[in-house]
Amino acid sequence: MVALGQCRQRRILRFAPMPLTLRAPDDFHVHLRDGAEMAAVVPHTALRFARVLVMPNLQPPIATAAQALAYRERILAAVPRGTRFEPLMTLYLTAATTPEEVQRASASGLIHAVKYYPAGATTHSEHGVTDLRRVYRVLAALENSGIPLAVHGEVVDPEVDVFDRERVFIERVLIDLLERFPGIKIVLEHITTREAVDFVFAGPERLAATITAHHLLMNRNALFDGGLRPHHYCLPLLKREEDRQALVRAAGSGNPKFFLGTDSAPHARGAKETSCGCAGIYTAHAAMELYAEVFEEAGALPRLEGFASTFGAAFYDLPPNPDTITLARTPWRVPASLPFGDGVLIPFRAGAECRWGLVHER
Ligand code: DOR
Ligand code: ZN
Repeated sequence: MVALGQCRQRRILRFAPMPLTLRAPDDFHVHLRDGAEMAAVVPHTALRFARVLVMPNLQPPIATAAQALAYRERILAAVPRGTRFEPLMTLYLTAATTPEEVQRASASGLIHAVKYYPAGATTHSEHGVTDLRRVYRVLAALENSGIPLAVHGEVVDPEVDVFDRERVFIERVLIDLLERFPGIKIVLEHITTREAVDFVFAGPERLAATITAHHLLMNRNALFDGGLRPHHYCLPLLKREEDRQALVRAAGSGNPKFFLGTDSAPHARGAKETSCGCAGIYTAHAAMELYAEVFEEAGALPRLEGFASTFGAAFYDLPPNPDTITLARTPWRVPASLPFGDGVLIPFRAGAECRWGLVHER
């Protein structure tokens, strides 16, 4: 009897899911917003990530080094007490950006990328660039400073099908940009297509890409699953299943050109559930848990740490984080909604289950 009991216990232990301890990860693309809305979302991100690259698409945009440093202070004031958390700031590239501003950004040591939005490509991108030739001097300054250009890689040409905008951006803009500025470091943000995966794999070392959890988990069918799903609407749009599979292969490949950027983008419920809703999916409440799910399903869990915690830091010339987080196979239910300033937001997986949980926060 005793022997049988021991045997059974051993079997249970063998199949008990092992917790997964990782070097603390970084999120190289997140929207934190501002004010009371920011205060509602920063804790989710700061519990999981040691450093985050903060997008500058506020209204008005974060377009100068001084604005970025003031925004950084506001973010730090929203971080839970006792949590070591570093916002890595970005500048919004506009037609008015000067090479001197890039120098000021570089000298601050706190601004780590300049963000290029083609004007009209996405939420609050109206101050973006319409003609890249107008900012060539700024791009040359980036080349000299070593600060990467973070790119929203979609054309805005209304003639181009919305599902083809990333592919056409690579053909019409990115190839030329890489050739014209042979020293510039570029991060193609939130890639969504097989073509982008192939292009980054084949490109020079100074070209990298971030991948979101939602593009790894869903294809475009999720936009119309039983009805119109505004909370699955983001830009770039979800693509075909073959594209999703290419993203999963890239993320799990162990190639350091692909690293984590959630593009977690909170919007108030009313701004999503309306006749002309905003683009953006909120994943910060469960980001690492969702990536763990994807990597587990792909049989790539041993490569999650590289993707989440080392490759991005290396590309951005940052030291590895000293602390850790621990995830485990402890399912939990995502709340149906979360507080967001005066209103609420609907998080990804609202009311449904996440397979992985966070057992040791930072
Ligand atoms: O889905 C998105 N939401 N894509 C973006 O590029 C911007 C973001 C936002 O700020 O809401
Ligand atoms: Zn974004």
